[in-house]
Parts: sequence; C-alpha cells; structure tokens
Amino acid sequence: MTKIDFDQYAGQYEALIAAQTGFFDRDNDYFVRYKVERAKQLAGQSLTDEVAAVLDFGCGVGRAMPHFRAAFPNADVVGCDPSADSLTIARRDNPDCRFLGLDKLSAATKFDLVLASCVFHHIAPAERQDALRYCHDRLKPGGHFVIFEHNPFNPVTRHLVNTCPFDADAVLLTMRETMRRMREAKFDIAATGYCLFFPAQLASLRPLEKYLSWLPLGGQYFVSGVRA
Ligand SMILES: C[S@@+](CC[C@H](N)C(=O)[O-])C[C@H]1O[C@@H](n2cnc3c(N)ncnc32)[C@H](O)[C@@H]1O
Repeated sequence: MTKIDFDQYAGQYEALIAAQTGFFDRDNDYFVRYKVERAKQLAGQSLTDEVAAVLDFGCGVGRAMPHFRAAFPNADVVGCDPSADSLTIARRDNPDCRFLGLDKLSAATKFDLVLASCVFHHIAPAERQDALRYCHDRLKPGGHFVIFEHNPFNPVTRHLVNTCPFDADAVLLTMRETMRRMREAKFDIAATGYCLFFPAQLASLRPLEKYLSWLPLGGQYFVSGVRA
C-alpha cells in the first residue's frame, strides 16, 4: 500500500475535513476542540497550571493549536509532523506555537502531554511501536499520552475512511490493539473510552457521552496512558 504524502493534501486539508465531517457537525472545529479538551481532562485538572509543554504528534496543518493555546495559555505548544507543507500552513496560522519535522524534535525536549489524533492509522503496523517509543521518549515521567483513533466497529466511520482520499493508506486499529501496543511501549493505561456518538442535531444528548464510553459504537475512541 502506498503511503499517503500529506504534502499533497495540505492546501485542501481543511476543505476535505469539512466535506467529510460536515454531516456530523458543521462547526469544523468541533472535533479538534473536543479532543484537546478531553485530553486536558484525561491529563488531570491538577496538572493544568503546571503544564509547561504540550506536543501534538502528527499535527498536520495545526488545526488543534488554537485549542491547545486556549487550554494551556502559558505552555510551550509544539506540533510535529513529517509533512513539510502541512507545517508551513501550521506556522502561518499559529505564530504563537512551534512546529518541527519529526527528525528535528530532540528526545531531550520533554512534554507534560502528548496528543496523537488520527495519526496511527496512517502509520504502517510494522512502524507503530517505533512511533509510540518516539512519543514515550518525549514525555516527562508521569506525563500523559492520549491517542484518538477511528473506531473500526462504527460503520459510518468505516464508510468515511473508505471514501476519504487521504485515508487511502489507512489501516484502522482497534482499541484493543492500541492498548496492547501502548503497554508494550511501557505506558500505564490510565483511561479508555469510545466517543463522538452524537451529531450536532442531537447536541443536547452530548452530555450523556460520558456514560456511553464503554459502548463500541462511538465514531472514535481514546486511550490515555502515563509514562511511568
Ligand atoms: C489525518 S491527519 C491528522 C492531523 C491532525 N492530527 C488532526 O487531527 O487534524 C494525519 C497526520 O499524520 C501525519 N503522519 C503520517 N505518518 C506519520 C508518522 N509516522 N509520524 C507522525 N505523523 C505522521 C500526517 O502527515 C498527517 O498530518
């Protein structure tokens, strides 16, 4: 399977996301805002004031950055990605954040929180442990790592992946695989859950999501781990 070069999609990424997710919520930002806020909750409110640095691993064009900045106003907000063209857009749109190619982010730079949102299904299974180690090595001891991934059990999610041009290389991971791989990479699993159940038309039901996190029908899921 040919790996997708996200440089080719950088300029149209925003429009493609809008076309894909508009049926669920016309507010394009809903998903990234949700994930940053959820990651912050999972990392623990008590950490919030002390958070010095956060990393968006596979940040793409930097859509999550304004939400990271709002959630962690005093932190060093960093994004890394292999797509140079995506990083150019991310830098232009987020001058108060830092962006680096994967190979430029030293393991000596340590973060309190690392988020990987819809990245691992683009990483070939044989390369996933290396990517997890990369994230592990850049966390402070006790730091939190949160993965959001497409839920392969949700038929709508599968349809979206099958019809999205930049998902042509996607190999979806179950929550079980993500947990196993994170444990192998020496993370202690702190929390898991399915999420993104209710489209905007049912927004009044969204507060109920927290009671449904056990149900493998959400559009996506999260696994949160701690570096021991
Ligand atoms: C679907 S986009 C998600 C972007 C962003 N996280 C978001 O939620 O909008 C997937 C991103 O993963 C990046 N990516 C692909 N392979 C990667 C790897 N081995 N390590 C880190 N990022 C990778 C791509 O360049 C792309 O920007």
